[in-house]
Amino acid sequence: MSERQRKLGVIGLGQAAAMVIDCLRERPDLPWRLVAGADPRAHAVDAFHAEFGGGHADAESLCRDSDVDAVYIASPSWLHLEHVEIAARHGKHIICEKPLTLDLADGLRMVDICRRAGVYLLAGHTHSFDAPIVAMSELVRSGDLGDLRAINCWNFNEFNHRPRLLSELQATHGPLLNQGPHHVDIARQIGGGLVRSVRASVIPDGVTGMPGGYTAFVQFASGVPATLVYDGRSLLDTAEFFGWVGESGGRRDPAWNPQRRSEFEALMALPAEERDARLEEGKESGRFGGERAGKLLNALAGVEAAYQPHFGLVVVACEKGTLRQSPTGLYLYTANGREEIAVPRRDSGRVAELLEMHQAIEQGRSPFHDGAWGVATLEVCLGMLESSQTNTEIAMRHQVSA
Ligand SMILES: NC(=O)c1ccc[n+]([C@@H]2O[C@H](COP(=O)([O-])OP(=O)(O)OC[C@H]3O[C@@H](n4cnc5c(N)ncnc54)[C@H](O)[C@@H]3O)[C@@H](O)[C@H]2O)c1
Repeated sequence: MSERQRKLGVIGLGQAAAMVIDCLRERPDLPWRLVAGADPRAHAVDAFHAEFGGGHADAESLCRDSDVDAVYIASPSWLHLEHVEIAARHGKHIICEKPLTLDLADGLRMVDICRRAGVYLLAGHTHSFDAPIVAMSELVRSGDLGDLRAINCWNFNEFNHRPRLLSELQATHGPLLNQGPHHVDIARQIGGGLVRSVRASVIPDGVTGMPGGYTAFVQFASGVPATLVYDGRSLLDTAEFFGWVGESGGRRDPAWNPQRRSEFEALMALPAEERDARLEEGKESGRFGGERAGKLLNALAGVEAAYQPHFGLVVVACEKGTLRQSPTGLYLYTANGREEIAVPRRDSGRVAELLEMHQAIEQGRSPFHDGAWGVATLEVCLGMLESSQTNTEIAMRHQVSA
């Protein structure tokens, strides 16, 4: 690769970090070198240091390292603002995991901080970086299929019953702020970015007592409607519609959802202390250094997968044709019937976001998925929450175009 190699530090060596680290291990051709990692968990820092060097106990110490060009923030969502502030103060470009943060004012503050510091902020990682979604967005934008008429996105999985403390699920209102950014980013990228209003209802998950999913009606400023439907209660699995290909493009076991649901039901019957210890143990095993790290669930970020990644069905209706994903690209339905459009599989997911940030630095211009983009997505997710709580339609004020 001809581009200059840049140096990356990772703040928070947990599950999300393990997937980024896996990407960098498996794609040595990427123009990034991992040089630093920070976490209060000493054993994770030791394991990181043994493999890459540059182990730090906290974000401040990592950001003092002048060798680091950019940081990947993969700490818990409620610490993202604090870590953006530290990184920006030290002049580091920033990729921040989704959700950007949990509060709109905090998101706006992040954008302001990064603008003043002259660093790029990239709002990662969502399925809008997936190659088929990028291909759909480009086809719609080309105008070859006529005007965009509607976007319909459906996803069903076992999100609510993955191992994590219930407090983490509570902080994001179940999937709303954690998984919502995937859906909203996909719809905004295809629909042009500018959402006028949102109306939504949340469905409860009887197993955890948390929100288990949502049904949202989003309207763009252009008048184009989008529906976003999510159900993370481990019942129906969208992989069934993809020939049992899961979210990251790997094979998915039809028994996966029912097993997760019954396991979680059994956990919820335990005394709270024992339940939490088991949940934390399950989460820890997926963090960097753990036995399931980077291989967690079906979230391999497109590194090893045989098929395209997906975030459930995305059906895009245009004047002259309708698009949806196929296992290897897209299907286009027109008056001539169905045709398949091949889409090269490389460079989806976290690989794509690392490349987007690298290109931004090289070219000296803000990434596409910048902080303002991330705030606009967060606003829609928070609007979905507010709409479900107040039973009203919520107008958007901080939208930016794609
Ligand atoms: N787990 C996933 O599959 C996944 C996928 C996409 C995005 N995310 C996002 O990534 C972020 C992290 O989630 P996770 O699931 O990896 O959680 P996690 O708990 O596995 O990882 C968070 C890590 O941050 C560390 N940490 C805590 N306080 C810290 C501090 N002050 N400074 C530095 N590190 C600190 C923790 O010790 C832990 O190792 C969240 O915003 C989440 O929404 C997670």
